[in-house]
Parts: sequence; C-alpha cells; structure tokens
Amino acid sequence: MQSQVVGVTVLLLLILGATQSKHRAPRRYTPDWESLDARPLPGWYDDAKFGVFVHWGVYSVPAWGSEWFWWHWKGEGRAPYELFMRNNYPPGFTYADFGPQFTATFFQPDDWADLFRAAGARYVVLTTKHHEGFTNWPSPVSWNWNSQDLGPHRDLVGELGTALRKRNIRYGLYHSLLEWFHPLYLLDKKNGLKTQYFVSSKTMPELYDLVNRYKPDLIWSDGEWECPDTYWNSTDFLAWLYNDSPVKDQVVVNDRWGQNCSCHHGDFYNCQDKYMPGSLPDHKWEMCTSIDKSSWGYRRNMAMASIASEQEIISELVRTVSLGGNYLLNIGPTKDGVIVPIFQERLLAVGKWLSINGEAIYASKPWRVQSDNNGTSVWYTSKGPDVYAILLQWPENGVLNLASPKTTSTTEVTMLGLEGSLKWSKEPLQGLLISLPQLPPSAFPIPFAWTLKLTGVE
Ligand SMILES: *[C@@H]1O[C@H](CO)[C@@H](O)[C@H](O)[C@H]1NC(C)=O
Ligand SMILES: *[C@@H]1O[C@H](CO)[C@@H](O)[C@H](O)[C@H]1NC(C)=O
Ligand SMILES: *[C@@H]1O[C@H](CO)[C@@H](O)[C@H](O)[C@H]1NC(C)=O
Repeated sequence: MQSQVVGVTVLLLLILGATQSKHRAPRRYTPDWESLDARPLPGWYDDAKFGVFVHWGVYSVPAWGSEWFWWHWKGEGRAPYELFMRNNYPPGFTYADFGPQFTATFFQPDDWADLFRAAGARYVVLTTKHHEGFTNWPSPVSWNWNSQDLGPHRDLVGELGTALRKRNIRYGLYHSLLEWFHPLYLLDKKNGLKTQYFVSSKTMPELYDLVNRYKPDLIWSDGEWECPDTYWNSTDFLAWLYNDSPVKDQVVVNDRWGQNCSCHHGDFYNCQDKYMPGSLPDHKWEMCTSIDKSSWGYRRNMAMASIASEQEIISELVRTVSLGGNYLLNIGPTKDGVIVPIFQERLLAVGKWLSINGEAIYASKPWRVQSDNNGTSVWYTSKGPDVYAILLQWPENGVLNLASPKTTSTTEVTMLGLEGSLKWSKEPLQGLLISLPQLPPSAFPIPFAWTLKLTGVE
C-alpha cells in the first residue's frame, strides 16, 4: 500500500472516529434532563407502532362515571356521585369498601394475551397503580391496599406479564406518581412540597420495586402535574433506570415526570391525553386514546354512542403512524377481569386490518410527505425505498390522484392483500393517477383503509 493511501486512510479513520464519538451516547447518564434526553431511543419501540392500554383497578367496581370516580365523589362535581352512592350502596359505604369486590374472578391472563396478540399489539401497558393508590401487585408499601391482600388475592401485574412474554409482546407498566388521598402526599402538599415523605416512602420504593420485579420494557408515568420533577425525584430514578437497572438497554419511558415535563422530556412524548400533532414532530411520540371515548376505566353505563368505530380507530392509527407516532388504544376490563365483547370486537378489527396492512405500519418510517389530501384522504408511510399510500376514502370516479410521489420507469403500484399491479399514468398537472381495482366490495381484503404499495418511486 502506498504511504499516501495509508495516510488518507488513517485520516479518514480519525475523522470517522471523531464523528462517532461525538454521537455516541454518554456512558453514564446524570440525573438531569440534558443528559437523560440524550439517550438514544431503544429501537423496538419505534418499530412496534401499536399497543393496547389497560385501565383496571378498584374504580372498575363502581364502574360508573369514569376511573376518576373517587375524586369526583369527594371533590368537584360530587352531586351525581353522591346520588349514585345513595341509590346503590348502604349509608356509610366508603371507597375502600369497593376493594373486596374487585375480584378478578374470570381473569385469564392467557386469554387476554391471546386477544392482544390477535389485535396485532406489539406492546401492552397495564395500570399497576392509578391515582386511587391501589396496587395491582403485592407492593410491600401499599399495606392492605393491593391486589394480593385484598380483592383478587393475586399478582395481576405479574400474571399478565408472564402471559404476554410467552407471546413475545412487550410489557409496559403505567404508574401514577401521585395518589389523590394518601395522607403523606397530602402532608407534603401542606408543607409546600418542602418535605418528600410520600416520595421516599411510597412513590420511589414502588417504582424501583416494579422495575426490579417485573423488568418492564416501558414505564408509562402519570399523575405528575401537581409537583415539579425535583419533588418527585424523577431524574434520579431515570438515571438509575438508564444506567444500572435490569432493563437499562431496552426500557423506554414517556414524558410525565413533573410539571412542564410533558412534551419536553422523556424517550417519547404523550403530551396531553389523545394528543395528535398537526405535522411531523421531531421527537418520537405516542397517541393514547380509549375505545370508550368518555372513560379509560370500565363503565357499566357505557353506550354505543361513546364507542369509537372501527373506521375512526383505524384512521387514527394510520394518521398517527404516518406522523411518526405510536398508537396506544385503551380498554377497561370489568372488575371480574372480563374484556367485554365490544372492546374485543374493536381490537380484533384492528388485528384483521393489520394482518393485511401491517407491512405499511410495523417498522415503517415517516415518508418525505405525510399526506395528500385532494378530495381523498391519503396518508403515507415508507420502508426502505418503498412508499405506502393508505387511502381512507375511495375516490368517486375510482381514480386516485396522488400529487407527491415522483414516478420512474420502474414504478409499480399494488394493493396490499390483492394480486396483480394497478394501472397508473402520470399527468403533468395532476401528478400520479392510479386506476383503482373495479371489483365487488366482497372481493377486497378489507372494507376500508386500503394500502397502495408504490415501488420504484422517488
Ligand atoms: C432522590 O434520589 C437520590 C439519589 O438516588 C437519593 O439520594 C435521595 O434520597 C432521593 N430522595 C427521595 C425523596 O427519594
Ligand atoms: C411550569 O410552567 C408554568 C408556566 O410557564 C410556570 O408558571 C411554572 O413555574 C412552571 N413550573 C415548573 C416546575 O417549572
Ligand atoms: C387536485 O386535483 C385537481 C383536479 O383533479 C388538480 O387539478 C390539482 O392539481 C390537484 N392538486 C394536488 C395538490 O394534487
């Protein structure tokens, strides 16, 4: 080898090395957002795209109003809740008295996991503890207010985790930092948050316990909004989680770790519940939403009018993924551990759609353009050189006009789930015109949200 070549090679290697070390993540994370936010997102999360959210707790016993039952009953807007209690329960009945009725009698974790798998979910997030403070696992610091000592007498978090792992579904744990009525939390608030009795004796021990016991792939934090992250000690916990925990390489967390953290810090952003951005964000995000539009927990008085339709759900999933997000769809099981058929039906509809169109969703990336909206609603995703155009409305004349894809001599258009390629032409003023298949409705693999795969486009 000539010395000149060697010199150039060495120089190149040096430059490469310098670029790499500049981008390499720090070996140890420090408990501040600048350091924590620099952590690269573990790849599984962006690939997963679709997850199921499960809200299950003592609120599933009154199963009325929403999972905020206790708060409404004791706080603002209490009148209808007081009336509900007067009409249905004996005088003096307390929220704690609901505990023993949370039985989970028919809870079959393997059946749940089969359902979630059939829904196409790549991850599941379970409420381990909501704002009511009841823990769905035998927490040693939630004395007599946990699913082992009371109600089911089972470790719900552990049982579901085992069933999910058998099916290769990632496991996320929802955890509320605050507990509405915990005496130590109320005391800290009374002390102007200058004390952290609640954090050091409840919140933090439980978070560490959850991680060490169940080795979650995801922590979905909530209940952060009343206090700054310094009160919650969140950055200390996250530094441990990223540096030293048993899940340090795969775990991902959301953004609810203290006042003003949401939409600013964390591996992915939820921002507000049901948040949907208008254009492609520059940070990984997740839309969480619920099949029952009025509640996350199960309500016995749920009516069809509040149930999201298959079209609404699948359209939202498509739009979310096109905009770079993950879609986390919630169901609320009953106190017996039953997932009612309407929720099963919606989940299975998503699974059926994904069984044909999953190629355009899982492990896809946002494309150069997110949507073409010229009389039809079209959302794009991409995978390598392939572009997917997902059509939410069928154009009246059966010809789809796409403005954004640039055709080449090798351009080919197919519809996922159908044999053969589709005719297309390029019109100077209109862009790409695709003749959609003229078939009877029953010949299509799915009734809506058809995916066109475009190969050989730019
Ligand atoms: C906060 O985290 C630090 C570092 O782990 C620890 O020393 C401190 O005791 C924690 N405080 C509370 C209230 O948990
Ligand atoms: C959060 O933002 C609000 C509004 O900008 C501000 O008043 C408040 O002090 C902030 N809280 C923290 C903990 O930074
Ligand atoms: C929308 O469609 C009309 C008529 O089909 C066409 O003239 C126009 O260029 C299209 N616009 C875009 C952005 O594709």
